[in-house]
Amino acid sequence: MRNPPPQAVRLSEYRPTDFLIDTVDLDICLHRTQTRVVARLALRRNPKGRADVPLTLDGDGLVLRGLKLNGRAMDAGDYDATPDRLALHKAPDAPFTLEIETEIDPSANTQLTGLYRSGSAYCTQCEAEGFRRITYFLDRPDVLGVYTTRIEADKSEAPVLLSNGNPAQSGDLADGRHFAVWRDPFPKPSYLFALVGGDLGCIRRTFTTRSGRDVALAIYVEHGKEDRAHYAMDALARAMRWDEDTFGREYDLDVFNIVAVSDFNMGAMENKGLNIFNDKYVLASPQTATDSDYAGIEAVIAHEYFHNWTGNRITCRDWFQLCLKEGLTVFRDQEFSSDQRSRAVERIGDVRGLRLAQFPEDSGPLAHPVRPEVYNEINNFYTATVYEKGAELIRMLKTLIGDADFRRGMDLYFERFDGTAATVEDFLSCFADVSARDLTHFTLWYAQAGTPIVTAKSAYDENAKSFALTLSQHTPPTPGQSDKRPLLIPISLALFGENGERLDLASPDASASECARGLVELATASRTITFAGVASRPVASLLRGFSAPVRLEPAPLSDDLERLLAFDDDPFNRWQAAQSLALRSIFARVDSLRGSGAAPDDRAFFDALRRLVETGDDDPAFAAQTLALPSETDLAREVGQNVDPDILFCARNSLRRALGGALGDRLEAAHARLGDARPYSPDAASAGRRALRNASLDLVAAGDPAKGEALAKRQFDDATNMTDKLAALAVLALLGGDAREAAFTRFYEQFAGDALVIDKWFALQSTIPEEATTARVHRLMRRDDFSLLNPNRVRSVVGAFASANPTRFHALDGSGYTLLENIVLELDPKNPQLAARLLTALRSWRTLEARRRDLAEAALRRVLAAPNLSRDVNDIATRALA
Ligand code: BES
Ligand code: ZN
Repeated sequence: MRNPPPQAVRLSEYRPTDFLIDTVDLDICLHRTQTRVVARLALRRNPKGRADVPLTLDGDGLVLRGLKLNGRAMDAGDYDATPDRLALHKAPDAPFTLEIETEIDPSANTQLTGLYRSGSAYCTQCEAEGFRRITYFLDRPDVLGVYTTRIEADKSEAPVLLSNGNPAQSGDLADGRHFAVWRDPFPKPSYLFALVGGDLGCIRRTFTTRSGRDVALAIYVEHGKEDRAHYAMDALARAMRWDEDTFGREYDLDVFNIVAVSDFNMGAMENKGLNIFNDKYVLASPQTATDSDYAGIEAVIAHEYFHNWTGNRITCRDWFQLCLKEGLTVFRDQEFSSDQRSRAVERIGDVRGLRLAQFPEDSGPLAHPVRPEVYNEINNFYTATVYEKGAELIRMLKTLIGDADFRRGMDLYFERFDGTAATVEDFLSCFADVSARDLTHFTLWYAQAGTPIVTAKSAYDENAKSFALTLSQHTPPTPGQSDKRPLLIPISLALFGENGERLDLASPDASASECARGLVELATASRTITFAGVASRPVASLLRGFSAPVRLEPAPLSDDLERLLAFDDDPFNRWQAAQSLALRSIFARVDSLRGSGAAPDDRAFFDALRRLVETGDDDPAFAAQTLALPSETDLAREVGQNVDPDILFCARNSLRRALGGALGDRLEAAHARLGDARPYSPDAASAGRRALRNASLDLVAAGDPAKGEALAKRQFDDATNMTDKLAALAVLALLGGDAREAAFTRFYEQFAGDALVIDKWFALQSTIPEEATTARVHRLMRRDDFSLLNPNRVRSVVGAFASANPTRFHALDGSGYTLLENIVLELDPKNPQLAARLLTALRSWRTLEARRRDLAEAALRRVLAAPNLSRDVNDIATRALA
C-alpha cells in the first residue's frame, strides 16, 4: 500500500466553526473490550459560521451503534457514518440535540490516545485529537462546551471513577456495578476531557485558596505507591500558592485530582480538574528517584497546574496557537522553579536544554516558526520550538516591557480572554495596550523560524577613551523561508574595567534607558554603539542571562573569557565563559588529533576551575554546572557541518582526562568533603552538594580510572539514595570491565519490578560509548521486561541510544541507524506518536560528514518507502528528507 498524500492544514484557512456544542452529556459504560459511550450534544448553528451547511463530526476508528436527532432515531439515509466521520446530510436550523452511541475497545488501544488501559486502569488522553476516538465530535479547540460525565463500571474492577469538574453524584447498581457523575461548570474544548476508572490508592490534602475556599486535592497512584506521591503533593500546593502570589490566579473547582499511570506518551496532561501524569513525574522516594527526577516532578506538576489558567480558562483558538498555552506555561513553570530553587541554576539548565533540543531543530529540516503556518500531523508540533523557544519569546517580552507592565499585561489577558479560545495576537494586544508600545516588530519572532546569529565586533579607542560595539544579526534560511528579516533582539550587556569593576554605560548612540538598564535593542541588521568615558580596554559581557534565543558570535578572546569567568556578576555569563573556554580547548584538541595544531594551553582555565572546586561550596549546584563540559551534542551543534562524532568524543575525553588529572586531589577532597551523613532531602541546596560531589567523582575517574573505580564502587555500595547510586553506576559504566557488569547485576536485583528504576538501568546501558553497546541494546530489547507498548521503556532504551549515545548511534557501519529504523517501523502500527518522535533523532543528518550522511539518509528513505506508514512517521520522514 502506498502512503496516503499528507493533508496539509493551514493557519491561513482557519474558519470559525459552523456549529457550536453548548453542552455535552456523556454516559460511559466501561468494559475492557466493549465500552459503550452515549454522547448527548446540544448543538446550534454558530452565528459566526456559514448558514445552510451540513454537519460533519470528526471520528477516529469509531463504530456507531445508535444515532438520535432531537430524541428520534435517525433514518439510515439521513446520515453517513464511517470510522472517521459522521455526517448529517441536513442539520436543523434551530438548536437541536444529537444522541450518539459508539462502541470502543480500550484494550486494543496501543497508541495511548483516546480511551485506553494502563495496567488495570482505564484512562484517557485527548489532546490534541483523541476525543474523536471516544465519540464523534467537533474535535477542535474553539468549540467550548459544559460537560457532564456519568461513568459506570464494575465496582471491584474500578472502585475509583473520575472525570473533570466536581463530583455530583455516585451510587451502587445491580450486579456489582456502580456509577459516578461529574459536572464541570467551566466550558472547555474536547481535548481537555478526561476520565479515569480503576482500583487505585490515593493521598489527600486540603488547600485553602487566598480567598478562603477549600479545595480537596488528591493524587491517585498504584496501590502501595502512595508514599511516593508526597513530594508531588507538596509541589502541587506550592505551585497553587505561587500562582496566587505571582500572577493573582486562584484555583476554581472544589477538587483537583491527579492520576499517575505507567503508560503515557508524554510527560503529563492538564485535563480540567483531572490531570493525568506519566508516573515518572509523580512517584519519588529517596531510594528510587534522583535529584533531577524530583526537580522534574516539581516542574511538571506546576506546569500542568498552571495550565488551568493558561490553557484551560483561556484556551487556543486552533492548534497553530499551541505556543499560546505551551510557551507561556513553560515560561511560568521555569519562573516557578527559579523561585523555588536557584534562578541562576535554573536559567543555565533551561538554556542548556534550549540549545540541546531547539537549536538543532531550528537549523535543520524540521525547523518551523514558534507559531507554525501549516501542519500535516499536529502531534508532530509539540516541539522544542513551540515549547522552549515559545517560552523564550515570553521572557523577551517581559525583558522588553519590564516586570510591572508584563504583570499588568497578564492581568489584562486573564480579564479580557477568560472563557475564550484566543490567539497569539489576542495575547500580544494586552501587552501593547498596557505598555503603550507597538509590538508589531516583536511579533515577527512568532512567524520567522531559525536561530538568529548575532555578531559582536568591538574596538577600543585609547585616545578617545571610547569603546565601539557593533552588533549585527542575520538568520539563516529555513524550509519555506529563504529570506529573513531582522528581528527585535534585546541584548543585555555590561562592561567591566581592568579590575573587574562594572562601568557606567553612557553613549550618544543609545537611549538613556538602554544605558541605565544595560539593555540595548537590536532591531536592524546592524547597530553600532560607542560608549564614552571608558578609561581602558573593557571586557564586554553580552547577552547576559541569555536575554534572547540567538547564537552569539564570535566567542570573546580567551583572556576576556577568563576574566568574565572570574568576575562577571551575571552568573549565566560566568557559566557561559567556562563553556566557551571548554569548547575552545576541545576544538584545539580536535585539530591536534587531526595532526594540525598543538595541544591547547589550558592552565588559566584549569586554575579557574580549581578555584571553583575549592570555593564552590557556597553555590555547589552552580559549580557543578560550570565543571560540566559541553556534551557531545553541544559539540556537534557548534561544529554545525561535516560532523564526525568519533573525533568529538575523543577530543572531549581528552579534555576530561586532562582536567581530571590537573584537579585530581582537589576533586577527591571535594568528593570527600561534600559527603552528607544527614538523611536525604531533595531540596535544592542538598541536591547542589550532591551534584558537585558527583561531578567531582566523574572527573576523578576521568583523570585516574583506578582511583575513580575504587571511589565509585564504594559510593555505589554505600549509597542510600538514588542520586548517588546512579551517579556511581554511571562512572562504573564508563570505566567498563567486571566492576561495571557486577554493579549492573546488583542494581537490577535490588530494583527488579520497580519499572521507573529499571528504566534507568536500561537507559544507562544504552548510552555506554563503546562498540559492544549496539549488540547490548539488541539484547536489552529481546528481554521479557522490554515492551514496545510502554513508552517509558522504549524511550529508556531506544530514545537514550539515539539521543545520548552519539558515537554508537552514528556508528560508521550504519548499525545505529538501522536499529532505529527497524524499531520505528515495528512501533509505528502500535504507537505512531512515539515512533515519529524517535525518528526525529535523524533530523540533523545533513550536518554529518559524508559517509554517515549517506547512511542516515538511506535509513530515512527506507522508512519513507515502507508500506502503511502512519501520518505521524510519514510526516517526519518526508520533512526530514525535504
Ligand atoms: N498539554 C501537554 C501534554 C500533551 C502534549 C498532550 C502533546 C498531548 C500531546 C502538557 O501540558 C505538556 O506540555 N507536557 C509536557 C511537560 C511539560 C512540563 C513541558 C510533556 O508532556 O512533555
Ligand atoms: Zn503544557
